Amino acid sequence: MSNKIIRKEKLAENIFSFTLDAPQIAKNSNPGQFVIIRINETGERIPLTIAEADKADGTIRIISMSIGKTTMFLSGLNIGDAIKDLLGPLGQKSRIDKFGSVVCIGGGVGIAPLLPITKALKEKGNDTVSIIGARDKDSLILEKEMSLASNEIHICTDDGSKGYKGFVSKRLSELITKKDGKDPCYKFDRAIAIGPPIMMKAVCDVTAKFNIKTIVSLNSVMIDGTGMCGTCRVEVGGQTKFACVDGPEFDGFLVNFDLLIARQNYYLKEEREAVEYFTKEHPDGKCRLH
Ligand SMILES: Cc1cc2nc3c(=O)[nH]c(=O)nc-3n(C[C@H](O)[C@H](O)[C@H](O)COP(=O)(O)OP(=O)(O)OC[C@H]3O[C@@H](n4cnc5c(N)ncnc54)[C@H](O)[C@@H]3O)c2cc1C
Ligand code: FES
Repeated sequence: MSNKIIRKEKLAENIFSFTLDAPQIAKNSNPGQFVIIRINETGERIPLTIAEADKADGTIRIISMSIGKTTMFLSGLNIGDAIKDLLGPLGQKSRIDKFGSVVCIGGGVGIAPLLPITKALKEKGNDTVSIIGARDKDSLILEKEMSLASNEIHICTDDGSKGYKGFVSKRLSELITKKDGKDPCYKFDRAIAIGPPIMMKAVCDVTAKFNIKTIVSLNSVMIDGTGMCGTCRVEVGGQTKFACVDGPEFDGFLVNFDLLIARQNYYLKEEREAVEYFTKEHPDGKCRLH
């Protein structure tokens, strides 16, 4: 049955990986693209990146961090459950060319969308250096997969429980600049950064100093995902763009991150209320589709 969950894996305390039977989407999907899911008849639509697509098996993998009502609902689904609506692949595919040395920077659940892009860049013959980070060692996801997709990997945790202690942007800065501030250690031809907007902004602040072209993937709030509703509008280079059809990837130096962050926080009150209501309805944290 299409849209059925055929594999479920817990990657971290609140991050789950689902492999879904979705042959049409798998066949047409490219790195950088996403799906919009609606779990059941009364559910809201949310975008999730296609973290992997297996064309031969006809499956896609989505990785979701439970941060609100719908992602909490999703985390309670199990093998055999089917998602009501699965729309995709959506968005523009990543540009995968031979750039040279590419630094791939991922934070938190942003490592999930980064994985297929890093893999494709390496397969294309780029030298991929990854810097991935999380709050602590237990929150870090896809380390093994990212290691395989990278010529070199650097792990960072905010609390120092694994790898470098500090933010990915700081590690990046140290890799590019020797501590004495003289000759650059690493020469990157391109950077791609995916994670919380504040992280992508910090990465762009570093790469701008060295004029390294930096691509970011914007996680603006989306509804239809097809350019109709305007919810996902972002400001890029002073122009309004729709992240769902024009993106989600954009030139990081042109993105108005402050506006993106402000728009993401627009519905915080309603989102909190939805979680409260959902938790009351499902005190055991488990919900059923039927
Ligand atoms: C192109 C794209 C790809 C994404 N890929 C992933 C992914 O692979 N894994 C993952 O865990 N998350 C991903 N996200 C973010 C994910 O869509 C949100 O975390 C999810 O919608 C939250 O819904 P919620 O009801 O659980 O939480 P809510 O409580 O509703 O929201 C929590 C926060 O999530 C964001 N959000 C809420 N509704 C939406 C919406 N409809 N669209 C986008 N953001 C929303 C808001 O910033 C909000 O503050 C992606 C977002 C975009 C735009
Ligand atoms: S989500 Fe509606 S226009 Fe992009």
